Amino acid sequence: MKEHLFLYGPPASGKSTLGGILASRFNLPFSDLDADIESKAGKGIPEIFAEEGEPGFRRRELEALCAVASGGPRVVALGGGALLAPEARKVAEDSGFAVALDVPAETLRERASKARGSRPLAADSAALDSLLEKRAAHYATFPRASSLSGYFTVEARGEPSRMFVGRGMLASAAMWLRAAGCTGRVLVVSDTNAGPLYAERLRDALNAGGFTAEIFTFRAGEESKTLATVASIWNACLKAGLSRRDTLVSVGGGVVGDLSGFAAATWMRGIRWVNVPTTLLAMVDSSFGGKTGFDLPEGKNLVGAFHQPEIVLADTDVLATLPTREFRNGLAEAIKHSIISPGAFHGVSCPQPEDSSDGDGLSSFAAAAVSVKAGIVASDPFEKTGERAKLNLGHTVGHAVEVLTGFKVSHGEAVAIGTVEEARLAERKGLAAGGLGDEVAAKFSAAGLPVSLPAGLSFDDLVPVMKRDKKNSDGRIRYALPFAMGDVRLTSP
Ligand SMILES: NC(=O)c1ccc[n+]([C@@H]2O[C@H](COP(=O)([O-])OP(=O)(O)OC[C@H]3O[C@@H](n4cnc5c(N)ncnc54)[C@H](O)[C@@H]3O)[C@@H](O)[C@H]2O)c1
Repeated sequence: MKEHLFLYGPPASGKSTLGGILASRFNLPFSDLDADIESKAGKGIPEIFAEEGEPGFRRRELEALCAVASGGPRVVALGGGALLAPEARKVAEDSGFAVALDVPAETLRERASKARGSRPLAADSAALDSLLEKRAAHYATFPRASSLSGYFTVEARGEPSRMFVGRGMLASAAMWLRAAGCTGRVLVVSDTNAGPLYAERLRDALNAGGFTAEIFTFRAGEESKTLATVASIWNACLKAGLSRRDTLVSVGGGVVGDLSGFAAATWMRGIRWVNVPTTLLAMVDSSFGGKTGFDLPEGKNLVGAFHQPEIVLADTDVLATLPTREFRNGLAEAIKHSIISPGAFHGVSCPQPEDSSDGDGLSSFAAAAVSVKAGIVASDPFEKTGERAKLNLGHTVGHAVEVLTGFKVSHGEAVAIGTVEEARLAERKGLAAGGLGDEVAAKFSAAGLPVSLPAGLSFDDLVPVMKRDKKNSDGRIRYALPFAMGDVRLTSP
């Protein structure tokens, strides 16, 4: 299995700094290949170049690369030319994902000038410019990102799935797909809002990168989450000539992801699926974990399958076009994750809708939120142990609020209200210390989300709807209830 994340790209693109941050954030070991080479050689890289020339350095570099590749999963910062040799590239690509960092040339020049002397092939700005020109075509053959905030892997029934959270990834979609093992034909599935914004760009990038890609678009909205839309995606697969070896790529929010994932799970008994979430909710909640499906008139998500995407590319640059209410829906799920596991959000601030084009801040926030879900899904991929049910925090009450308001309250708004009500219920039952409800409410209201039941609706009004919840047993309502920040338990109080 491809386990490592190799950070690659020009000198001074920030591979070592970013590698250290990613590794510590995700509890993975970190290796800086240049540091490994120096410590093994007992001398600095400039000295190795002076004494053994570039060929001697490359020999040592390949040896160090093979050593890290054969160990357990880790984040590895590579030297700027470490994968020039085909045998080195094969070692990296067989054992992990090699992602090239795309950083503007001015930034590289500025950084390189501050660290003069440590990089023999980029000793001054003229040398750096000539190296960039020589290597541009080489770096262009890798999956690229202008920054990365998260890298997650989950394995279920031997099916590995990986998620990347970052910026600037979509332009090199073809290389990302190739790195995930995809070849041949691609059907890009999207809806009428996300499609014109992103699917066409993605299709063109895939076609330019050697794939044969077509687009299928359906009408945006939960009303489209039906068997009829799944059938129309199957039809599009047929028209596009998708075989078992081909790939379906979803570009959109949770509706596009759930429907396309189900179509991919069932077309030819299962084909590769790449998920490109374009809403904050899809990034932090629905795109990862393998649940796919559609609604019936009798209820939401009643038919579905577990199918893992090969990769999920969460590029937070696309959030700049997201309407405010949709942005807040995603914030609600992310804040819910911060109540389940506050530690994951250490040093990360909660964005506001007006921050939707602050790509770096958003990408760190989204990565923190995904880390909570990824950890839980990894420990209970098929909802067998009850661990995954913690993610239902706020949803028992929230779902009843959605039903009783005829879905006028959006899902995120309902989750905010539901989490606050569930915290207050825990307080009333003596399960949580006094003040938890207010603490939870403060988090959601700071993000502009509602925190009390709509006028005319009381907690007692919700009970008959909650009694029909599929989590219940023995006729008692089961909640994922907050006992404290960081302590959510499945219980029937
Ligand atoms: N599979 C899971 O584990 C899981 C988990 C949670 C929710 N879900 C499902 O996810 C769905 C909700 O997802 P959602 O909130 O993303 O809804 P959605 O897919 O309907 O997207 C919301 C709206 O935003 C538009 N949009 C998407 N990206 C955009 C962009 N970048 N710019 C402008 N507009 C954009 C969409 O066209 C749509 O109108 C529900 O069907 C829910 O059941 C699934």
